[in-house]
Amino acid sequence: RRSYEYIEVSEPRPGVGQVTLNRPKALNALCSPLIAELNKALCDFQASPTVAAVVLTGSERAFAAGADIKEMAPLTFSEAYTTSFIESWSDLTTSLKKPLIAAVSGHALGGGCELALMADVLYCTATANFGQPEIKLGTIPGAGGSQRLTRAVGKSKAMELILTGKSFSGEEAERWGVAARVFPSYEALMEGAFKTAEIIAGYSKVAVQAAKEVVNKSQDLPLRDGVEYERRVFHALFGSQDQKIGMKAFAEKKKPEWSHQ
Ligand code: CAA
Repeated sequence: RRSYEYIEVSEPRPGVGQVTLNRPKALNALCSPLIAELNKALCDFQASPTVAAVVLTGSERAFAAGADIKEMAPLTFSEAYTTSFIESWSDLTTSLKKPLIAAVSGHALGGGCELALMADVLYCTATANFGQPEIKLGTIPGAGGSQRLTRAVGKSKAMELILTGKSFSGEEAERWGVAARVFPSYEALMEGAFKTAEIIAGYSKVAVQAAKEVVNKSQDLPLRDGVEYERRVFHALFGSQDQKIGMKAFAEKKKPEWSHQ
């Protein structure tokens, strides 16, 4: 296993990988080397035969307090433009085909909120502190916040949040559909995230990858194209062994033994 400076990597449960952002002195501010490490770790989990779902978390105090303001402060337009600053953050949404659960406690601000929004499933504590405060720094969200938050909460609420920089709580995140579930404590949050990851890891890897792929298509495609795309992938799964295994096991009232083929 690689050794990292800004993250920790583990396999806490069978089939479950975990990446813990670990830059406590800066509240997990997402400097470029941290994002590079995160991308490497997720690539390794993608290639791993033992990991089927991944949990991404920070500390109890901070998931991540944003992109690294000290790194960004002196950047010029041409430096940001020619190095495609922040573009590599999106790698994790394309390179990881296995489900990613963000477990958010404490601050998830700016790039931290945007990173959480990139996950497939977002869980948080009731007191988690989400927000897009970039406007207070004289800038705007740069890692997809204006697009993903708007899709999650609708235009009017996203406008209000992004134009005022006001935070919202984990409770609100759950009520508005940003978070799938909210938990009363950090311990309950992590247990909930691991349990869901274990459930996913118990299914056919082929079906899980297809399910993630088609749900994500709904974010990009018009409805008719999306439904058609889903149907093509659904048809394709009749070519998998696991569809036969799953349906045969149902008829025989047995637990399916997936071949992952
Ligand atoms: N970048 C760099 N350093 C950061 C940071 C960030 N985003 N957030 C916190 N830190 C550092 C602080 O500078 C401080 O370091 P020092 O001890 O060396 O001074 C340390 O983390 C602890 O922070 P605080 O003392 O401020 O802790 P607090 O509990 O008083 O406040 C906080 C916590 C409300 C999260 C506050 O730190 C804060 O407002 N952080 C900035 C949040 C923010 O604006 N994020 C958006 C960044 S822009 C962005 O993300 C662009 C994009 O869309 C990609």
